[in-house]
Amino acid sequence: MIDIVGVTKTYGSVVVVDDVDLRIPAGGITSIIGANGAGKSTLISMVSRLLTAERGTITVDGHDVAATKSDELARRLAILRQENHLAARLTVRDLVAFGRYPHSRGRLTTLDRAQIEQAIDYLDLDALTDRYLDELSGGQRQRAFVAMVLCQNTDYVLLDEPLNNLDMSHAVEMMRILRRAADELGKTIVMVVHDINFASTYSDHIVAMKDGRVLHQGPPADVIEPGPLREIFGIDVAVHVIDGHRIGVYYS
Ligand SMILES: Nc1ncnc2c1ncn2[C@@H]1O[C@H](COP(=O)(O)OP(=O)(O)OP(=O)(O)O)[C@@H](O)[C@H]1O
Ligand SMILES: [Mg+2]
Repeated sequence: MIDIVGVTKTYGSVVVVDDVDLRIPAGGITSIIGANGAGKSTLISMVSRLLTAERGTITVDGHDVAATKSDELARRLAILRQENHLAARLTVRDLVAFGRYPHSRGRLTTLDRAQIEQAIDYLDLDALTDRYLDELSGGQRQRAFVAMVLCQNTDYVLLDEPLNNLDMSHAVEMMRILRRAADELGKTIVMVVHDINFASTYSDHIVAMKDGRVLHQGPPADVIEPGPLREIFGIDVAVHVIDGHRIGVYYS
């Protein structure tokens, strides 16, 4: 469980995460939705300690993030950032192997190597392992970064817009992989996603943020509703149930 209590972050005089209390249960997929600038990335960056909270506490399975040693935190929780700036002259396999660093410290064991190959296989990167990152398409690069994060094999996986750059079929494939990681491996997946229909179809919980606050949270049936969606995004969304899933349709 991730417990966020009274967490605030400001830049200058602007409050971008505003006294947030949020409990993310262990297991399953929690999706965070909300407009650009709502504070989604800032919030999950604080959970992974890429940013420090000014006020409040964040615990992961009872461990205070602020007081946990970096290597211990890295074995418990992995994060995919929204923007990734890593040396382009790294091959896909090198990048994925990077995910094992908190465990191997550069000396890869047989188990590390097996996990690297598994992550490569999971993300359909087998044909690309020796390519450099700057020789990949945007979606291929995104998949390589997700493979690196999954390779870390942590109980908690935070993903900031993992569907970025992915075509429809790879987006569906990515969500299936994440669903499997949650269902079969018992991982807790927390992801930021803009597509409300992917959030609706694949998540157990949805957290909706606006102006630095959590406005709505609950199962898709509670959040993927015209009322909450209008509050969150300021537009009309018609919600239809198709094959048991709540699908939002929006146009102006
Ligand atoms: N380093 C910074 N300095 C000043 N303001 C910042 C900084 N980083 C983020 N912000 C502001 O904080 C607010 C929240 O940003 P954040 O990146 O968390 O939004 P987000 O919900 O992830 O949006 P998006 O959907 O566009 O990724 C925004 O208004 C942003 O401009
Ligand atoms: Mg963001």
